[in-house]
This record gives sequence, structure tokens and C-alpha cells, in this order.
Amino acid sequence: MPTLEVQKLCVHYGQLQAVRSVDFQVGKGELVALIGSNGAGKSSTLKAVAGLVHATGGTIRLDGEEIQRLSPEQRVLRGVSLSPEGRRLFGRMTVLENLLIGAHTVKSAARRSETLHLVYELFPRVHERRSQLAGSLSGGEQQMVAIGRALMAQPKLLMLDEPSLGIAPKVVAEIADAIRRLNRDGMSIVLVEQNARLALRLAHNAYALEHGEVVMSGKGDELLDDPFVRKAYLGV
Ligand SMILES: Nc1ncnc2c1ncn2[C@@H]1O[C@H](COP(=O)(O)OP(=O)(O)OP(=O)(O)O)[C@@H](O)[C@H]1O
Ligand SMILES: [Mg+2]
Repeated sequence: MPTLEVQKLCVHYGQLQAVRSVDFQVGKGELVALIGSNGAGKSSTLKAVAGLVHATGGTIRLDGEEIQRLSPEQRVLRGVSLSPEGRRLFGRMTVLENLLIGAHTVKSAARRSETLHLVYELFPRVHERRSQLAGSLSGGEQQMVAIGRALMAQPKLLMLDEPSLGIAPKVVAEIADAIRRLNRDGMSIVLVEQNARLALRLAHNAYALEHGEVVMSGKGDELLDDPFVRKAYLGV
């Protein structure tokens, strides 16, 4: 049974349909990438899985159980965690305070020092800067904190929305290493990226979205070699 199974997902904003009958799934321990250009519906898809926008159609199953009617909070409790596009940290709170916000459920709070240790091990720089105000960090460091905060909820499904956006290549490589490590340790991950090359290199399976629809899917390395994908997303 897949960790996440999304079927015929629709999202509307008023008259505008941002997601049109999208199907995808994430197996246990699998890393799945969603790629596509601006406005394709990638963030809307992740927000619908997290419950931050309403799914106007379709089903979302986590370990076989339908979750599309649950509150965002209930989904966090069941193991869904999103690191949002643009990071959304509290700039005037410290790094540590931001991380602890991610461990706000009773279950995750009980194990928070253990989880914090894992986050610090994954991102030593976050540990170094734990007492600093989040707003004073570089973009790359803020992204590490955002991923760390999502991890503090102890998810079984981690969703990352554009973790490489606006970040220097060297730091992107560090973040990519961390994503790879988490996945190797067994975490199921959905990675949304405009950096298709990065996403397809990391992903077992990938889906390309355009205008709210899945236009292509396959194994990450197959898509990397696909002429359509190369032309549309890789610029080669
Ligand atoms: N809160 C909102 N209200 C109205 N329209 C929205 C809202 N959020 C997104 N949209 C629209 O829905 C469509 C899909 O947006 P979405 O953010 O899901 O795309 P995306 O693939 O994540 O794009 P990007 O790569 O730019 O982040 C776009 O046309 C966008 O303008
Ligand atoms: Mg987006």
C-alpha cells in the first residue's frame, strides 16, 4: 500500500481551476518529484494534501485511509508535514523557537529533544545558529530551518515545496544531500521543484504538471533522458 495515493485531485480558487484531476502516488520510502513551470499547480497540490486548501474533488489517501476531509492539524497528527514555498519562518523568533513550532503536537513534543538532535545532525549549520533570529539567516540557512521545522513533526510523508529556490548552488547541494539522506533512512518524500534537473536526479519517480494536469510521469532517470522533458524543463 502506498504511503500517499492521490486520485482525481481538483483544486479551485473561485472560478479558476488550479488542479485538474491529478493522480499520483508515493510508495513507502519513495522520493517522488513534481516538476512543472510557474502556475502549473504544484504548490496547490501539496497544499491540498496538507489540508491548507480545500480539495474540490478527488481522494487523498494516507496509508490507505482517506484524509481529504480532515483538518490540517489532524493530517499533521497522521504524519503529513509540509515545508512551504518561501519558507515562511518567523523572522523575529530564534531558529530554535521556529523548530519547536514544528513539534507542537503532543506526540511530537514528547520526543522533541530526540528529533531536534536529528535535525541538528542533518544540518550542523542550524545547530550553530540555533540562538540566532531566523530573519537574520541567509536564504539557504532559512531553508534548512524550514525543512527542520517540518521534520520536527516526525512525519511519515515529508513534502518540500521548492527547497532550492533562490539559493546558491553550493548550499543547494547541501540541501540535496540532506534530502537524499532522509530518504535513504526510509522517509517518503514529495519534492516540488522548478529545478527539474535536481529533482529528477533525486527522485525515484516523477510527474510533470502543466496547467493543473499531469502531462507526463515516469522514473526520474527516464524523464531526465526524455526529449520532451529535456526541451521543456532542462533547456537542452
Ligand atoms: N490563493 C490563490 N488564489 C487564487 N489563485 C491562486 C491562489 N494560489 C494559486 N493560485 C493560482 O493557481 C494556479 C496554480 O498555482 P500554484 O501556486 O499551485 O502553481 P505552482 O506550480 O506552485 O507555481 P510556481 O512554480 O510559480 O510556484 C496559478 O494560476 C495561480 O495563480
Ligand atoms: Mg509553487
